[in-house]
Formats: sequence, structure tokens, C-alpha cells
Amino acid sequence: MRDAIEVKSLQKEFDWHRPVYHFMPEKNWINDPNGPIYFNGEYHIFYQYNPNGASWGNIHWGHASSTDLVHWRVWPIALFPSRELGEEHCFSGCVVINKGVPTLFYTSIGIGERDQVSGAQQWMATSEDGMLTWKKDKNNPILTDSIHGETVIKEWRDPFVWEDHGAWYMVLGGSHDGRGCVLLYRSHNLIDWEFLNKIMDGPEFTWECPNLFRLGTKHVLIYSPGGPVRYHIGTLNDDFTFTDESEGWIDRSGWEGYYAPNSLVDYKGRRIMWGWLTENPRGKWEKDWAGVHSIPRILSLGDDNRLRMHPAEELTLLRRNHLHLTDLQLTDQEMDINIKGPSLEILAQVQLIDSASAVYFKVLRSVDGEEETVISFDPQTGKIAIDREKSSLSDLPHKTILTGSINTEGEFVTIHIFVDHSVIEVFADYQECISTRVYPTRENAVNVSIHGDIGKLTILNSFDVWELGSMTD
Ligand code: FRU
Repeated sequence: MRDAIEVKSLQKEFDWHRPVYHFMPEKNWINDPNGPIYFNGEYHIFYQYNPNGASWGNIHWGHASSTDLVHWRVWPIALFPSRELGEEHCFSGCVVINKGVPTLFYTSIGIGERDQVSGAQQWMATSEDGMLTWKKDKNNPILTDSIHGETVIKEWRDPFVWEDHGAWYMVLGGSHDGRGCVLLYRSHNLIDWEFLNKIMDGPEFTWECPNLFRLGTKHVLIYSPGGPVRYHIGTLNDDFTFTDESEGWIDRSGWEGYYAPNSLVDYKGRRIMWGWLTENPRGKWEKDWAGVHSIPRILSLGDDNRLRMHPAEELTLLRRNHLHLTDLQLTDQEMDINIKGPSLEILAQVQLIDSASAVYFKVLRSVDGEEETVISFDPQTGKIAIDREKSSLSDLPHKTILTGSINTEGEFVTIHIFVDHSVIEVFADYQECISTRVYPTRENAVNVSIHGDIGKLTILNSFDVWELGSMTD
């Protein structure tokens, strides 16, 4: 057995934290997914990117594409700040197809009067070469804050545009009177816009990266309020107000994992969403890369008028070695699973019987158990947790426990877990997700085990584990 490697030397040599099937470029900083779009048979995704280093700054748009949502090709930088026009950063935005022409909207940020607090502008660009390069429109800025008249909006950014019944609509995030908000606009030509309404606000100082779209017979509004990303389900009324019927979390982790998601509709009509898996939990552990994107989630509406989030079925392309068990009776005895690795998928169906205790899934576990991340689910309370207390022997990474909770009705609950070196994504019955980051120090932290609680019996109707391949395989 190997001894723990000293963290100091790890910081130079050991880059075992790099995920293999979660999207990230070769190096440097990335944050929000931008402008996801399905175009000419390919999924394209852009992202906030600093080509000069692994910390936030100097924001460009990176670009990648995929035919299957799993294998990604990284393209040269798509969008550069126009310094000659006073632009320092190209903040988040979207891409739409206007009469066959890819058209991009983003927030242009400069310095001084053009800073992000009160000087943001919304700019447009088009592409004629399959989205590799973009030409900024001569009408820029397309929207300035004068569009709000007397109403003062700060931190105004992150356009999300869609077409409905022959008109274009846009939502932007911002801050009004110190409250985060989502604002709605309309245009008939993508150039001239009118401000329609502030459709929702809340106590957080600012709301970022709104998405608003139809899902079945409802509208879904998603935003990132500087903490766990939320959704609201309801109706966007003809008078441009939003009637809110239910709400929930896209992900419970916030800065500990999942932020600023963005979405597209593909040729199958699926609403697919990616989030930015932040590197915040890594603490001061320096590397030449930071940030990765979540796996793609498919959004749908449940009978309870709340969101359901499923991993895209294409992810099954990554599956390699497999273990399948049925009717597994768990006690407090730890059961070692003989599929192991840093990149795994675990799928468990937990029976909802009266006697059931919590079930504990241990992943990224060192041979001696000194390092492990424990994902637990309690059928009695519906509570789901990711316990990172022992995830790393290094004291640099964050170690708080992340929790969520789901409704437990019916006969069983599905717990679906994705592990990828430093990424953990948990789908709790597809009702709630927790995505976070962990940074083990030991290369042998690849084991999996499960157990229940003392004196109780928990039954897993089925339990599957797969080793997963990489996005470049
Ligand atoms: C969200 C965000 C956006 C902004 C971008 C800047 O993470 O703050 O609001 O456009 O990141 O990189």
C-alpha cells in the first residue's frame, strides 16, 4: 500500500483531480456555459474563458462542439473583447439562429463608466463560418440601460433570447433597489428592443444568468442568485407578468459546486442544461486549470408541477465495466464493491419500506478508508447528503456537508451518482441534484463501498456500478 503523498509535492505533480468525462478545455479558467445551441447536426457550447491563466479575468468565449453530448472537440476562442471599443470582458450570453444565421448576444463590460455595476451593455455578433468566428454588429450596443427610462438597474447582464409567435424575447438578470431581478424585453428584428417588465425579484443583491422557456404547458424561469440556483414554474402571462406556481432548486450546492446553468432545445425537443462546476471548494490549491462543466441534464415536468432532471441518456456511451446486483440487503456491515475507479456511475433503487435505514455510498475511498466521500440517503426523511469531511487529507479543500431533500412516496427511490476524479454529481430521484467537488490526495482513493445502519435493514432492489470512459475516448 502506498503512503499518503505529501500535499506540498502533490500540488506540483499530482493532477489527478482533472475530470475525464466532464467538459473542460486543456487549461486555464472557465466559468459559465454560454450560448448552447444545436446547429447543423452538432451541439455547440461556449464558455466564459480566460486564455491567460487559471483565475477569473480577461473574459473571452471559448468554444466546443459535440455530435453526441459526450465527446467534445475544443475550437479556437470564438469571441474576444474589442479593446479598441473599450471592451474588457465578454460576459455571458446566448446564441439563436435568425433565418439560418447564428446570432450571439452577450454582455459587454469595460472599465470606469462601462463597468459591470452600472455600465454594462448588451452586444450582438453573427457568424458565417459555422460559429468558429464572430463579427460584432455595427449597431452595437444593441441595448443600453437607457432602455429602462428612470428605472435604475445595476449588475445588468447575461442575455437569454428566444423566439415566440414571430417575436423575439430576451431576459436579463440584474439588481433593482438592491434586489436581484429578471427583466423581460421584446424585439421584432433583434436590433430594436423594448423593455416590457421586471418579471420577478428576490432578496439577493443580484440575479445572474436567467433562462426562461416553455416546458410542456408551463414556463420555467431559472436564475443564479449568488447561491444555489433556483427555478420557478408558472405562466408568462400576456401582460408580461409571471404567475408563479411552484419553485425549487436546480442544484443545492451553489458556490460549493453548481452555478450559472444555461440550456438549449435539441432536434429531439429536449431541454438540455449544463452548469458550471466551480472550483471554489478547491481552496488555495493552485493548478493551471479551474472550472469544468456539469454533465448535460434533461429537464421535464413532474406530475407535482416541479422539475425533473435526468442525466442525458447519451452518457451511457461512456459505460465500461459493469456490476449489477439485485435485492441487496444492507446492514451496518460495510460491503466493498469490486468495480472501482476515479470515474464511475452508480445507480441504486432504494426500497421504501418501514424498516429502512439510511444507505451510505462511499466513493473515492482510499484503501485504508482515511479518505472517502460519503453520499447518504435516508428513506425516512428523504434527506440526501454529500459528506466531504473525509474527502481529502489536505486541509486546503472545503469539507462542509451538502444536503437536500426529496419527497418519498411510492415504492422506491432512485439515487444516481456520477463520480469523475474531483466531481460528484448526485441525482436524488431526479427531483433534486447536488453537485460538488472533492480533492482526494491518494491515488488509491478509488474504492466504492456501501452499507446501512445498525439493527435495520435497507433493501436495494437493484444496484449498478459502471466504470466510465473519457470525453476523448
Ligand atoms: C456568473 C457570472 C455572470 C457573468 C459572468 C462573468 O457566474 O457572474 O453573471 O456574465 O459570470 O464571467
